Amino acid sequence: MVKFQSPTGMRDLLEEDFKHFQKIERVCQEIARFYGFKRIETPILEESALFEKGTGFSTEIVKKQMFNLETKGGDHLVLRPEGTPSIVRAYLEKGMESLPKPVKLWHFGPFFRHERPQAGRYRQFYQAGLESLGSDSWIIDSQIIQIFYNILKSLGFKNLIVEINSIGDSQHRAYYKKNLVSYLKDYRNSLCSDCKRRLRENPLRILDCKQEKCQKIIRDGTPQIIDYLCRKCNNHFKNVLETLEELEISYKLNPYLVRGLDYYTRTVFEIFEETEPTFLPTKATSDVAKAGARDTESEEEKNQEPLALAGGGRYDDLVKLLGGKETPACGGALGVDRIVNLIKKRTKKTRKIIKHRIFLAQIGKFPKMKALKLMEKFRKSEIKIAEALDKDSLSSQLKLADKLKAEYVLILGQKETLEEKIILRNMKTGKQKIIAIKKIVGEVKKKTK
Ligand code: HAM
Repeated sequence: MVKFQSPTGMRDLLEEDFKHFQKIERVCQEIARFYGFKRIETPILEESALFEKGTGFSTEIVKKQMFNLETKGGDHLVLRPEGTPSIVRAYLEKGMESLPKPVKLWHFGPFFRHERPQAGRYRQFYQAGLESLGSDSWIIDSQIIQIFYNILKSLGFKNLIVEINSIGDSQHRAYYKKNLVSYLKDYRNSLCSDCKRRLRENPLRILDCKQEKCQKIIRDGTPQIIDYLCRKCNNHFKNVLETLEELEISYKLNPYLVRGLDYYTRTVFEIFEETEPTFLPTKATSDVAKAGARDTESEEEKNQEPLALAGGGRYDDLVKLLGGKETPACGGALGVDRIVNLIKKRTKKTRKIIKHRIFLAQIGKFPKMKALKLMEKFRKSEIKIAEALDKDSLSSQLKLADKLKAEYVLILGQKETLEEKIILRNMKTGKQKIIAIKKIVGEVKKKTK
């Protein structure tokens, strides 16, 4: 017999995961709404060309990670690998260009990337994203970072660090790229095979290659993009950093952070949880801090790359690239699964038995039916009640009520059911009394106030 399994890198989410997902969604909603972001949900499937053009042909996401499909009608669709091009598509399609700027949108949902599955990296994963379209002000970049930082703080993360860089605007970046390629050409044969390709197609991505041999070349004196910023980009970046200091957000300049999506301009950022104490920089012009290795949580994960909890940046050219007017924009997304994993790890040690104050027991066929009917009355009165309707023995039901730490047990026997009555038993004192069924909800309400 064939045993079916969920597809590689995709998981079933059970109740113990869901409560965390729902909490994260609730926190994101509260904070996003406070800052004036409106909810948007785009389809799970989009045209492949949207990401080929938007995310970029030469990115790993488009080259290697998209789940492509062809419909019976011959349309080329993909399971969305990220949210930004979809939101820009909706912004243009739904005529949001005519709305007062910035147009602020937020979303929550599943995304799909054919990645090598490993801890914190799934083929189906959830993101909560924020996009602000229509302003080129540095204050928006700072606000987006602040919102993600605050969402994570509200979820109990303490030692957060924002890694940040500016990759300049597309116009001036070309000059940097030329210099980068001319420097790296001499080391071509020592680069990994991916970086050899990147040297032709997307040289900036070499900067954040994780292969040791490439890292060594990069850290041994590659020109740094920050030294090539034009005056406007430089001022923009300086203002963002100064705002982060004002907001007391811990950050670290990472000159090698370029991010894996082609649309970014100027500010790019990622947020991590640090296990060591973080520092608060004192001035925006502080020395560039090298992106050092972090101490990850468990032995098994020690060799793994630190995983970003959120990432994003400015994308001033994307709306125009996808057919709209020139519209500067900025946004980011939170990796919900990674956050859930960390929250679960943290709460595992302190897991408590959930107390059920009321337990409903029954003995026999008709009491079972009556109990099912009574449950509905408790539901309507918003009183939580535990049961084991499939069980027949009273002693096994009482054992379970004890395990659940129930304060009261309601018992429906044959006699009580015939007389339209029910036994109310105080589990602490062992005392019990008989009450008319029609009065039991009110009685329980009084006792559990
Ligand atoms: P991203 O960095 O590709 O950016 O993804 C954002 C976050 O999603 C990551 O920081 C990570 O926490 C989570 N994530 C990404 N891939 C996976 C995976 N395979 N498994 C689990 N979690 C994952 C974007 O997607 C951009 N659209 C963000 C953005 C919005 N930039 C501007 N606006």
